[in-house]
Amino acid sequence: MAAILGISAFYHDSAAVLLVDGRIVAAAQEERFTRVKHDAGFPRRAVAYCLEEAGLSASDLDHVGFYDKPFLKFERLLETYVMTAPFGIRSFFKSIPVWLQQKLHLPREMRSALGGDFGRRFVFTEHHESHAASAFFPSPFEEAAILTLDGVGEWATASFGIGSGNRIELSHELHFPHSLGLLYSAFTYYCGFRVNSGEYKLMGLAPYGEPRFRDLILEKLLDLKEDGSFRMDMSYFNYLAGLTMTSRRFEALFGKPRREPESDIDEFYMDVAASIQSVTEEIMLRCTRHVRKLTGQRNLCLAGGVALNCVGNGKILEEGIFDDIWIQPASNDAGGALGVAQFIWHQLLDNPRCIQKPDGQSGSLLGPQFDHEACEKAVKHSGGRSRRIQSQEERCRWIANQIADGKVVGLLQGRMEFGPRALGCRSILGDPRSEKMQRLINLKIKYRESFRPFAPSVLHEKAHEWFTFEEGQDSPYMLLVTQLQPGKLRRSNNGEQPRGLDRLHIPRSEVPAITHVDDSARVQTIDPERHPFYHALVTEFGALTGCPLVVNTSFNVRGEPIVCTPEDAYRCFMSTEMDVLVLEDLVLLKEEQPTTNLQP
Ligand SMILES: [Fe+2]
Repeated sequence: MAAILGISAFYHDSAAVLLVDGRIVAAAQEERFTRVKHDAGFPRRAVAYCLEEAGLSASDLDHVGFYDKPFLKFERLLETYVMTAPFGIRSFFKSIPVWLQQKLHLPREMRSALGGDFGRRFVFTEHHESHAASAFFPSPFEEAAILTLDGVGEWATASFGIGSGNRIELSHELHFPHSLGLLYSAFTYYCGFRVNSGEYKLMGLAPYGEPRFRDLILEKLLDLKEDGSFRMDMSYFNYLAGLTMTSRRFEALFGKPRREPESDIDEFYMDVAASIQSVTEEIMLRCTRHVRKLTGQRNLCLAGGVALNCVGNGKILEEGIFDDIWIQPASNDAGGALGVAQFIWHQLLDNPRCIQKPDGQSGSLLGPQFDHEACEKAVKHSGGRSRRIQSQEERCRWIANQIADGKVVGLLQGRMEFGPRALGCRSILGDPRSEKMQRLINLKIKYRESFRPFAPSVLHEKAHEWFTFEEGQDSPYMLLVTQLQPGKLRRSNNGEQPRGLDRLHIPRSEVPAITHVDDSARVQTIDPERHPFYHALVTEFGALTGCPLVVNTSFNVRGEPIVCTPEDAYRCFMSTEMDVLVLEDLVLLKEEQPTTNLQP
């Protein structure tokens, strides 16, 4: 038996992954255990969970890998400082103590975090190698092109190459400071959202605006080549030397200061969001066409933070540049932990790769699971009231009825998802046909901005009837945006479109709760192989209503990580206006809970 632990840490989204004889036994992000969103500390709790899942201890590990090379990263930090001196002095002094105390002594830090029980040497792969490995090795392809795009690793900000059999080889890189991830983050910052977490909001905001600054961005901010590579004019950005993302010159170019976080969003920032989204899509498309041309491959694997831009992914699919695409669901840095572990197993130890269908990611359901007893104990401990519905069929019918009744249902079942999306195991569900559902869930359950769209989970076999996917098209990890089928849309009487957030109030389709203002939707397709319970549940909802899809949003409130345990779920249930909670085979109604359990 060979046990390999992969770790990503000390930047954002720390995670641990355990492979036993090449099989992914467990994978989880540290934030889910510590309840600190994007937790960047050493993933002690995630490591402990992975080992427990396999019944191993740290001394049983054969290899431990880390997802990037800290010395190369430090070199970048120093060179950037020298290049920009003396302007970068503040950011330099801010980051240097952490490097001197922790990051440059990673083996020591990791050894102590593993309780001193691991005596062998650590393996370090390059950041983009880890992303690339996580994109290719679990994919269903024998051979494929690999494209990675993110903010920055050591020096690389994008890379591409080929995966074949049990090996990957990256042949091209784009280097810091020129970075699609950082460019997008700079606009995230300018629009008043948080860097490294608000990018999703920017993408959600984009369809409300017009891309009227697109040409300005392409003319002034970057020199974009036909092959998708580009150079940024760094006088508009401040992330090299300063503590902010954009410079005064950037604000002068657009004619407005950065939006104050949490302030009202006016049309100007919507137009800015639409413009950078459009430029991002253009860069993603050019890169992908170039990768297709140079590698000659028919399939594409994607990873890195930018691969979470599911609108861009949808454009790549739509253009048909590759025959098939597979995107790593944990495309953020958490996925690097999976990449390094698989890199060690296949590339360094030369173990063959058995291609699994539909893929080797097991639906990304790789985290902790809680049985009936654990759920019952949690309910009892919290002073809640539940009842049990043992038969799965009966339970699915009951939940489907609740959803069809307009209730908002929190669902915890099976193993927790690995990656930022909830896929039906830690999800909040609602009726997509409801006109008020989007507002209701945003404002009363998630406590977040009303413009944020919701995604549908649709039965795989019915997806093409509702969305413009080709029959059989997969999107099991909710990483592709597509359009509603025209037949499902409702047109407003005079065809006129209001501007800005007013567009939110127009029912656009038969399923308004998941139809974004541009008639798009970020679709998860559910198949019975990867998500069996969820498939059965949505099948029941479809049979009941004729609508084989539900609203699926992650089970958390704004600013908190997705729930992990039944205790987390109960707390979230009681602190929001959620109506129903399902904890495996236990069901709980809000009206039956003691009012003393209601949390502010
Ligand atoms: Fe990354």
